[in-house]
Amino acid sequence: MTDYITIAMPKGRIFYDACHLLREAGFDLPNEFETTRKLILTIENSNFRFILAKPVDVATYVEYGVADIGIAGKDVILESNRNVYEMLDLGISACRMAVAGLPNRKQQSSVTKVATKYPTIATEYFKKQGKQVDIISLNGSIELAPLIGLSDYIVDIVSTGQTLRENGLVELTKIMEITSRLIVNPVSYRLKKKNIDYIIEKLKPIVEVTGVGMD
Ligand code: PRP
Repeated sequence: MTDYITIAMPKGRIFYDACHLLREAGFDLPNEFETTRKLILTIENSNFRFILAKPVDVATYVEYGVADIGIAGKDVILESNRNVYEMLDLGISACRMAVAGLPNRKQQSSVTKVATKYPTIATEYFKKQGKQVDIISLNGSIELAPLIGLSDYIVDIVSTGQTLRENGLVELTKIMEITSRLIVNPVSYRLKKKNIDYIIEKLKPIVEVTGVGMD
């Protein structure tokens, strides 16, 4: 088992982009990969093993070394601040981190309230702006917060913009562009460098076509 390269894959929307990318790079992922409920998957006749994790947990599995490699959004990487190497910008699942709110809103109180599932990123952003805000941490459906008066603004991922539109919110400021990255456990990289470099080299040409690459 120790020869296995374990790759942590994020379940959810990044998963499909990541599977597509891996197939393009020549990894023979079985067809049921996208539909199975199994959480540990192996590819026959290969030394690759995949674990399917919540996106927000991928960097944790990689930091602790139970996964050698992971695919994680830059948002999750910045927010979780894990000790992992970020090796390659995969250019997939592109979206942006933004401040959004109701159009023409009037502030409810003297302190600006910001709801987010990215408290670290949001805190850092407003600190850089020199603005003092109250950060309210939520786990999802962030767009609800300004609609029911919990917050003045939100800091969240915007992909198609549909969630904002359908809830009558507007994007006010883009904080940063987000794409998914290949992350690697530092010890794994030392011990399994050859195999990990092999994966990176297979992915690089595919990724380079989309105009991204090594950081
Ligand atoms: C994310 C994000 C936004 C939405 C943006 O939520 O937090 O709510 O997607 O996508 P869009 O611009 O294409 O509408 P997610 O679907 O991960 O669910 P969540 O509300 O549980 O965080």
